[in-house]
Amino acid sequence: MLVSATDENIAKAAEILKSGGVVAMPTETVYGLAGNAFDGRAVAKIFEVKGRPQFNPLIAHFADGADVESCAVMNEKARALAQAFWPGPLTMVLPRAKGCPVSELASAGLETIAVRVPNHPVARKLIKACGFPLVAPSANLSGTVSPTSPAHVSESLGDKVNMILAAGSSSVGLESTVVDLSEDKVFILRPGAVMAEDIEQVLGERVSYESGDALSPKSPGLLLKHYAPKIPLRLNAIDLNPGEALLGFSSLKFMGIKGGGAAMSLPESMRRNLSEEGDLHQAAANLFAMLRELDRTEHKGIAVMPVPDVGLGVAINDRLKRAAS
Ligand code: TXA
Ligand code: MG
Repeated sequence: MLVSATDENIAKAAEILKSGGVVAMPTETVYGLAGNAFDGRAVAKIFEVKGRPQFNPLIAHFADGADVESCAVMNEKARALAQAFWPGPLTMVLPRAKGCPVSELASAGLETIAVRVPNHPVARKLIKACGFPLVAPSANLSGTVSPTSPAHVSESLGDKVNMILAAGSSSVGLESTVVDLSEDKVFILRPGAVMAEDIEQVLGERVSYESGDALSPKSPGLLLKHYAPKIPLRLNAIDLNPGEALLGFSSLKFMGIKGGGAAMSLPESMRRNLSEEGDLHQAAANLFAMLRELDRTEHKGIAVMPVPDVGLGVAINDRLKRAAS
């Protein structure tokens, strides 16, 4: 449903977001497909609506720079760039803060999080009304160009979103600059309206370009940043080897342990279920957190039960395969 971004409709959009729905919102760069950053199932829905075959990490949008501190570690460089460019088209990749409440799915299992404060009154009003940050990739189907007008969004996503908040064309029309501040050396991961020279001027140091994003890196430096478990992952397991932890999907009733025993009798520390009901949204929302919980060197490995390769299952299996290799 395409509606104009009046205060009343912004309030309605906030209600939809509070109950786990997704809404297309205007920003100064491009329209974003927004969901509650703290709600893993809402984040999973975003990937589903976009039809992304992979879980790319998403940008968390905040109403104010001060709100970022509970989610990301702002170092001195980050504070300087925030002061200079926020609100505005600059996204910073920073270490996740301790106890960061943003869904691990939004970070695609990485220990970093991308954050930005958009310079659009509607986006900021909406985030304020929600009381939580919104993760938002561009509001288009995967593999198509980013939408800079409400009409683009409805052509691409149509009735797959609960609401499209229309507020004219995006003034910048190009996605935000993504700068990686999570390490000593500063990298631009995606060029945008804020130029390398602008950033260099504020920081007083050279920044370099790193081409490719975190999931399809052109440089081996970024390749290392994928979530990789410490212990082996065994996919499509139909039973367990002794000493293995279990990452289940759906019913565990018929999972046995070789040499005797049932998976159900494993201690809690060795057993997680992505979704007892076999719900792929729930499984996606749980994926990275559960992998981390089982990833302990006292386990021989993690046996993963088959996850159906349909809908969100395609992206789940993509990440599992990466983690297994
Ligand atoms: O202008 C924009 O940034 C728009 C509006 C809606 O805010 N959003 C947008 O999101 O372009 P998206 O999901 O299409 O692009 C996010 C980019 C991707 O290239 C992604 O790989 C990168 O940011 N990114 C996000 N989190 C990251 C992380 N933790 N580490 C490295 N790159 C990250
Ligand atoms: Mg995009």
